[in-house]
Amino acid sequence: MYQAPRGTADILPEQQPYWNHVCSAVRRIAHRYGYERIDTPVFEDSGVFLRTVGEDTDIVQKETYSFKDRGGDELTLRPEKTAAVCRAYLEHGMRNLPQPVRLYYVAPMFRYDRPQAGRYRQFHQYGAEAIGDADPAVDAEMIQLALDMIRSIGLRRLTLVLNNIGDPADRARYVAALKEHFRPHFAELGHDGQRRFERNALRLLDSKELAGKPFFEAAPKSTDFLGLEAKAHWDRLLGYLDNLGIAYRLDHRLVRGLDYYTRTVFEIFPEVEGAQSAAGGGGRYDGLMEQLGGKPTPAIGFAAGIERAILNLQREGVVQLARPAGPIVVAYNGAAPKARAMLLVSAVRSKGGRAVLAPERSLKSQMRYADSVRAPKVLILGPQELERGIVTMRDMAAAAQVEVPIDEAPDRLAALEGP
Ligand code: HAM
Repeated sequence: MYQAPRGTADILPEQQPYWNHVCSAVRRIAHRYGYERIDTPVFEDSGVFLRTVGEDTDIVQKETYSFKDRGGDELTLRPEKTAAVCRAYLEHGMRNLPQPVRLYYVAPMFRYDRPQAGRYRQFHQYGAEAIGDADPAVDAEMIQLALDMIRSIGLRRLTLVLNNIGDPADRARYVAALKEHFRPHFAELGHDGQRRFERNALRLLDSKELAGKPFFEAAPKSTDFLGLEAKAHWDRLLGYLDNLGIAYRLDHRLVRGLDYYTRTVFEIFPEVEGAQSAAGGGGRYDGLMEQLGGKPTPAIGFAAGIERAILNLQREGVVQLARPAGPIVVAYNGAAPKARAMLLVSAVRSKGGRAVLAPERSLKSQMRYADSVRAPKVLILGPQELERGIVTMRDMAAAAQVEVPIDEAPDRLAALEGP
């Protein structure tokens, strides 16, 4: 027997109310902030992700699903959406639109991650990108949007963690200082730490193994290495957040797992038992567009995981989502009533109602079927009803029934659906 591939999951009908809940909350908040939806292909030229996300990141090193197609093109299932949205921005000349261009998305992503609770190989993100404006007010807007989306889904007590990793020149000076700091402790860094030291020293800061060691805690902070412009941007952002009443915790160890970030980086953590991982994260990526061959274009965005959100919702028990009522069931007894019942089902649907034909079994078992699909009403049609031109309409909750002229039934049932 086949099973869904490791790290993937089927989203069964009974889970769909949670997905609808998340997607409609995201859509509602996106529209409030003036963001429009964008969809991009599930796969892109591998180059879109390689350099932007970063050749030395875990995502590119270990987690991409890359393949050569039958025409020989090198393709990658998107591990994230930001680089793909930037590719679309360039391809469609969105530079000529009023800036910033505000876009949001809800889409599956693919990472060959180690599967565990809240971590999958096919997972879904919702997120947003504001492209073409360097104003720290846009950083504040993005952070506020992210908090609002996560909150509107039902997660409470969110912690916003914030850092600034500077512009590329600032970061080069900072990374040099970091290496200087860690070099005397090279032997204590462990295999993974030594690799990070050599290839991507910034990532030493989010090493779980090193946390707590005194030399690790004493590492220099990126915010002490900001150039004049990045520093002014940072101060203004913090001022705007204060102005908006958005609380934050500064954490100089927050560096994010993707290489394209400049200046502002942030993550949002829900205070849920068992949820050690971020609900979402993002930051500014002022250099990404140039890596894709475009003109310098400042931008900022964020993304959050939907499976994680649903897991946390269920843990917290804030949102109890019931499955909606099922369709009307049309039951029958005999061949001629069945033929008429099929027409009734069609008539209800064409009036905008929802209806299904009961399976051909005894009437009693058809009623049980109606119960199990949560039908609010059942129409019953036997030879006698047919002869009299009526149908019995049974209300399942009230266990009461009335007779209705057959021709009137579709309109009455469609009215149940509302406008
Ligand atoms: P990221 O931090 O890699 O950022 O992913 C964002 C969120 O996606 C995470 O906080 C988490 O909720 C969810 N996520 C990531 N990996 C998995 C996984 N394997 N299973 C389940 N959920 C996962 C980005 O992807 C950036 N593109 C965010 C961004 C947008 N930055 C700027 N604009």
